[in-house]
Formats: sequence, structure tokens, C-alpha cells
Amino acid sequence: MRDAEPKAIHLSDYRPPDWLVDKVDLDFSLHPSQTRVTAKLALRRNPAGEADAPVVLEGDGLTLVRLAIDGTPVAGPSFEARPDRLTLAHPPADAFELEIETLVDPTANTQLMGLYRTSRNYCTQCEPEGFRRITYYPDRPDVLSVFTTRIEADKEEAPILLGNGNLVESGDIPGTSRHYAVWHDPWRKPSYLFALVGGRLARVGDSFVTASGRTVELGIFVEEGKEARAGYAMDALKRSMRWDEEAFGREYDLDVFNIVAVSDFNMGAMENKGLNVFNDKYVLASPETATDADYSGIEGVIAHEYFHNWTGNRITCRDWFQLCLKEGLTVFRDQEFSSDQRSRPVKRIADVRALKAAQFTEDQGPLAHPVRPETYREINNFYTATVYEKGSEVVRMLKTLLGDAGFRAGMDLYFERHDGEAATIEDFLAAFADATGRDLSQFALWYSQSGTPLLTVSGAWDEAAGTYRLDVAQSVPPTPGQPVKKPMLIPLALGLVGPDGQDMPLSLGNVPVENGVVEVSEPQQSFLFTGLDARPVPSLNRGFSAPVNLASDLTEADRVFLAAHDADPFNRFDALQRIALEMLKTGARSGTLPAPDALITAAGAILADPALDPAFKAQALALPSEGEVSRELASDVDPDAVFAARKGLRLAVGTALAEGFATTYADMAATGPFSPDAASAGRRALRNLALDYLAVGGEAEGIARARDQFELADNMTDRITALAVLAQHEVPEREAAFASFYARFERDPLVIDKWFTLQAQIPAPDTLDRVKDLMLHPAFSLANPNRVRALVGAFAAANPTQFNRADGAGHDFVTDVVLTLDGKNSQVAARLLASFKTFRQLEPGRRANAERALRKVAETPGLSPDVADIATRSLG
Ligand code: TRP
Ligand code: ZN
Repeated sequence: MRDAEPKAIHLSDYRPPDWLVDKVDLDFSLHPSQTRVTAKLALRRNPAGEADAPVVLEGDGLTLVRLAIDGTPVAGPSFEARPDRLTLAHPPADAFELEIETLVDPTANTQLMGLYRTSRNYCTQCEPEGFRRITYYPDRPDVLSVFTTRIEADKEEAPILLGNGNLVESGDIPGTSRHYAVWHDPWRKPSYLFALVGGRLARVGDSFVTASGRTVELGIFVEEGKEARAGYAMDALKRSMRWDEEAFGREYDLDVFNIVAVSDFNMGAMENKGLNVFNDKYVLASPETATDADYSGIEGVIAHEYFHNWTGNRITCRDWFQLCLKEGLTVFRDQEFSSDQRSRPVKRIADVRALKAAQFTEDQGPLAHPVRPETYREINNFYTATVYEKGSEVVRMLKTLLGDAGFRAGMDLYFERHDGEAATIEDFLAAFADATGRDLSQFALWYSQSGTPLLTVSGAWDEAAGTYRLDVAQSVPPTPGQPVKKPMLIPLALGLVGPDGQDMPLSLGNVPVENGVVEVSEPQQSFLFTGLDARPVPSLNRGFSAPVNLASDLTEADRVFLAAHDADPFNRFDALQRIALEMLKTGARSGTLPAPDALITAAGAILADPALDPAFKAQALALPSEGEVSRELASDVDPDAVFAARKGLRLAVGTALAEGFATTYADMAATGPFSPDAASAGRRALRNLALDYLAVGGEAEGIARARDQFELADNMTDRITALAVLAQHEVPEREAAFASFYARFERDPLVIDKWFTLQAQIPAPDTLDRVKDLMLHPAFSLANPNRVRALVGAFAAANPTQFNRADGAGHDFVTDVVLTLDGKNSQVAARLLASFKTFRQLEPGRRANAERALRKVAETPGLSPDVADIATRSLG
């Protein structure tokens, strides 16, 4: 374990590196417990660095075997080698070759950072600071070098040897059972993009011809026997490669592109140059084992990692404070890709739902931080929804403000200026400012101010003048370290909907509003819309043009009207959700739901509208989650009351619209063999929503329908949603279905994860005991991040009533798991602990329980920096 109280690192302390690495030759001799790593670094003093600076290379738990300078072995005291640092106080020259030999133990590596083993294969994960667990190096993203990697291994143990770049040489080592491969990556890169893989893997191959006519060999490497499940990922890869050429003019730049799927992985996937490494959950799919959500997740993550080749790899980050430079931008790019491949409005709705669930809650709690943080103790804890999802929203707003052509011109200039460099957010914004002539200094506050802005909007209709005045006030709530905020530049897309449901002209002082977007930049502002012949209903923040909370003076009747007529599909969805949210808030606070008539009218109209996309209907008719209701309540939350209100409203809607749901269930039945395309997935989503509404009362007919679907389904989406419906009800069918599901899929860990998750989410008092029992199940393992997330992560993040049990046992259970896990995999432990991020919103009793559990963690000696940082900030 590392230093338990690491120093805070500040953006303002950035200094250029003192030493550069012009090239690096790595030689790995793979062995399960004693892998020998030889690194030859061509070091050169940086003219921009500090004069006479020593060479200081980072390490993490390293053992030095040998050191040589320009081929001559050196001994102490000319250097100092500690596990965490190698120092040459008096470098021999301003340029020299340093040869470093280290021994590492991949089998003992349970952190899954650096070189480790997974299913007997060797693989690496270096972002952000894993390379220093392999060899001593200036392990920071602004040191770019040309890497050549030689990998040697036992032929039997590791017939496949993969590295970054292109394969230049391979062969047997005569007289031994070993062989080798040499990979050369011509593109300069930081150490966090280094990767190697060795092992017994099956290759699924294909090729891609780039726009300029070069052929790229594509390979997806999976465990033997899983080849048939890589087809969708390969298809998504080829579509991503084409899309980046068409949408951004970006071509691939090596002769090969390889993807490796591994089963032990801390996150989703990693964009190592030419050798992406994936959590196998984002590669493997078949109709029997993967849901529609899994298919779209694969498509999105394959695209995301591929797009990093330009946004992240060709242009990388100067320091880790700039993480959103690659992550926010690349999330934006993958969201746009998926929008183009599927339905744009439905994708937008899904993304905003996820943004609110993960990022708005983060922004509202003790872990709130800016899109570009200015200080951190543990960088691993900043791979957050704020950096990724809000980071993407900021790029989206830039596009809204500059228009399609201005945005593209800015991107082109960014690529032209910074290709091959390690850049900053200032560089990124300057490219857009210079390409379009627009001053972006106020806009830049989106990167430095944390917290979700609140827009308070009211309208005033002047019949005589034919004008409608919109008064807009903005404020940004205080967040940790930022008590007072400046006003932001907020692009507010809007429309004025006339009595006939059509958009009225949108003019300010008789000048048409371009793109339907007004810019809010002052604490208080009024917009006077002219030339109107009737009182409009404003449709605000169309397409969720800005990631803000909105308080408006719209009435329930206005919302029913918008849900039926708004030309913006996002706001039709949002109007319906808002009607439901207000009812749920009232219900949760008072214990009595208000009359649900308005919701039933609006929902019924959407359900019955044959012109609407089924996928859209499924999104619109799914009530806001318990988490969303709690977030809106913001304080004194009783999760049981929220659950009861939501259940009551589902029952009311399900009962009132039972006939419509029954018809929908029949109409949306599949007409042909399974296909994962968006239209078919949309029909399944709507049909499964109907199944849930028809069973919500727990009557025999609804349960039987779910049981039949569970048994007869020919695809995982239909089977698992039927099981999810059964899981909500205490009926004998539930346990029977769980048992039969396990028997059918016991050999398939990714599917068994779904089985763990559904059980962890059951909103019943015996769930905690069930989860504790499941931790002892042979299919569970604390060493595998997917298993931990599927069982304990789901309990903490997706079972609000049981995680927040009034007796505190749910909180204690999760913090106990965090402490047990911390010694094994501190990154996963820290992420699990971050599930407490909303605890301050709870009513006093539960809040005190959560605080006590967090305090116990914080006071435990020997914590990892990862867990210590989350515990401290959560309590802070
Ligand atoms: N850069 C990766 C991505 O977003 C994610 C990543 C960061 C990661 N750190 C990691 C993946 C550690 C695995 C382990 O695409
Ligand atoms: Zn990424």
C-alpha cells in the first residue's frame, strides 16, 4: 500500500518536466511471479525545465535489480532507489541512456494496475499512474516518447504476444520453450498509453480500408470459445472508424488495431495506442446472454476507446487536471456517434437521465468538483461523472453556441495546432475562440465552477403588445471550496408553443432568434419576444441544451399541453416526467399521492400515439427513478416514503392504462428473429415496460404473464426484464425463476452478474441477508471488479430502501466490504465508498447512521489513499 496521506497536488503548481525521454526500449520476459523488465530510456535535459535538476523517476512498489548509464553498470551512492522513486542526483550529461532492470510479480498484483494476470493471461493497465508499477519512469502525461516493446514468454503459456503499434519482428528462441515479439509504435505517447498482453487468446479478425485507402488489420482477442460473441463489437468498431472520418475527418494511423477482452478490469475499457484493453462486458454479446442495454453499451464503449485515438492519444493531456480534455470530449464524440447510429432524441433522453442520476447527484453532494479540478490527493478518484458526463455537456454547449460549422472549424484547428502534443483546456478553448472570433472567457467558467446552475424562469404575456417576456435568473449553489460563484454563460434553447401546438415565431425585438437559442449570461435577464398573436407556452431548455436545474412557473396544465404537442421530443419527455416528479415529491413528503389524473391523461396520450417511436414511449412512460425523486427533494429524504410514492403512482398509472398496456404488450411482440438494432430494441423496451405496469399490482395474471415471458424468451432482454418484474413481488414464481436462471447460465459469469444484481435490488428487508449469503456463493469473488459491482455495488447504488435501512445495517455492510476490499483493490473499494455521496440528503436518523459508518472507515488505520480521500471528502 502507498503513503496513506498523500500530499494535495495543485494545478497552479504545474512545472514542465526537467527531463524528456526521446525514445524508450522495453524488454519484458514474462513469468507468473517474476517478470523481468528492462527499460532503456534515452533521457535528455528539457531546456524548458529547471537548470541542473536531478533525474527523478517515479516508481510504485518497485525493486531495482540493475542500473546502467550508457551501457556501464552503476552502483550507489550515485543513485538512490526506493520503491516509489529512483533519483540520480548528479546526472552524467545532458543526454544519456539509462538502463533500468526491475522484477515484478503479476500474480500478486490484485490492484489490477500495472502488469497483472487475468484468467491466466498477462495484461497491463497504466492510466493514470500504473506504468510506475512496471518500471521507474517520468510517469506523467506531458512526457511523450517513442516506444519499442519486446515481449518474451513461454510459447505454451502465452502463444499470443501483443503490444502498441505495429508488429516488427517475432520468432522462437532457439533451444528453449520460449518465443518473442517486437512491437514498435511510431507515435510519441505518454506512459499511461503503454500496454502489453500475453496469453492464450482466440483472435477474431477483420479489416478496414481508410478514407485514404490504407488497409488496417483489425483483431479482437477473446477467451477461446467466445469468438462468436465478438461479432457485434467488430461491427461497432468498423462503424466507429468510418464515422470518425465522416464526422471529424479523422483517420486511423497504424497498420493494426487490436482489442483484447479481459474478465478482471477496474473500469470499462482503456484506449492504449493500437491495443485497446476492454472489460469483457463491453465486448462479448449474443442474443441469449446480452441485453439491448449491453449491446448499446458495447457500441458506445468501442466507439469511445476508438475515438480516443485522436482525442486523448494523438492529442493528450498536459497533466491529470486536464482529464476532461480527453474524457469529456470523447464522451461527447461517442454520444454523437450513437445518436447518428440510433435515434437522436432517444439517445439524448437516455444520456440526460444518466447525467442527472450520476452527475447532478455528485454535484449536489460532498464530492462535488469542477469539470477541471484544481486540486487532488488521489487522481484515480477523479474519473467521475463530472469529468466525463458534465465534461461532455460542456463540449455540447460549445457546439450549440458556435453552430455546427463553427464547432467543426474549432475542432479542426485544435487538431492542426496540437497534434502530437500534451494540451490544456486553455488550448482547447483557444482553438474555438480563434476559429470563430468568439470570446469564450465567461464560457470557461463551466470548467472551473462546480455545482449545477439553477435557472429560475417566469413568463409575462402582454396581450395588447403581442409580446411575451421571459424573466430568467441564474444562480450556482455553493459547493466544497467554492462558496460564491460568478454568473455563467448558458445556452438556453427554447420555443414558444402556440395554442394550436405549433411553434410560434421566435423573435427578440423583431429579430429572429438563430437556432432557437438565447444566451443567458447575467444573474438576471429578461427576453422580450415579439410578434405573437396568442399567449404561448414556453418550451424551455430544449434538448437539454444546458446541464442546469430549471424552476419555472409552468402549470401542470401547461405541462400536459407540452407533453402532447411540443415539437422538441426531449421536452415532451421532460414535461411528462415533471408532472410525475411533482406528484412523487408531494407523495413522498405527505404520505398521500395527489390525484394522478393529469399524468394519466398525458401518459395515455403518448401511449396511444401511433406516430411515436416505441423507444421514445418507453422512456417517456418510465417514471422518474427513486434516486431522481430523492435528488429533487434534496433534504430530509425518507427512502421508504419515496419508494411507497413511486409504487403508488406506478400502480395508479398501470391500473388506469391497463387496457392500453395490454394492447401494447401484444402489438410490440417480435415479428421475426432477434436483432439488436435500435428499432427492435425500442419495441422490446416498450413491451417490457407494459409487462411491468401490468404486473405492478401483483395480481395472478400479471405474474403469470411475466413468468411465461421469462420461460419462453429467446433473448436476454426479455428474459431478464421478466425476471426483474418477478423480483419485485414476493411470490413463489420469484425464487423458482432465480433458480432456473442460475442453472441455465451458471457457466457464464457476465450473465450471473445480472442474477446477482437483480437480487441485490429487491426492495425487501431480507435483501441484506440475501446479499451477505450471495457473497459466499461460489460464483462470487471479491477479486473480480465486475462481481463486486454487480452484487455490492448494485445494493449500494440501486437499492435505496435497503442500503439506507433505518437500522443502519445496510451502511455498515457496505463500509465493511469497502474495508475488506481496500487491501486488495483500492480503486474498486473507493468507488464503492463513493455510493455514500448522497447521504447528506437523508432524514436525520439515516444520515447519522451513514455518517457513523463513514467515520469508522475514515478512522481505520492503513487505508489506501483512494479510500482515505473519499472518506475524508465525504465527511468534509
Ligand atoms: N481512459 C479510460 C477511458 O475512459 C478509463 C480509465 C481510466 C481506466 N483509468 C482506468 C480504465 C483504469 C481501467 C483502469 O476510456
Ligand atoms: Zn475515455
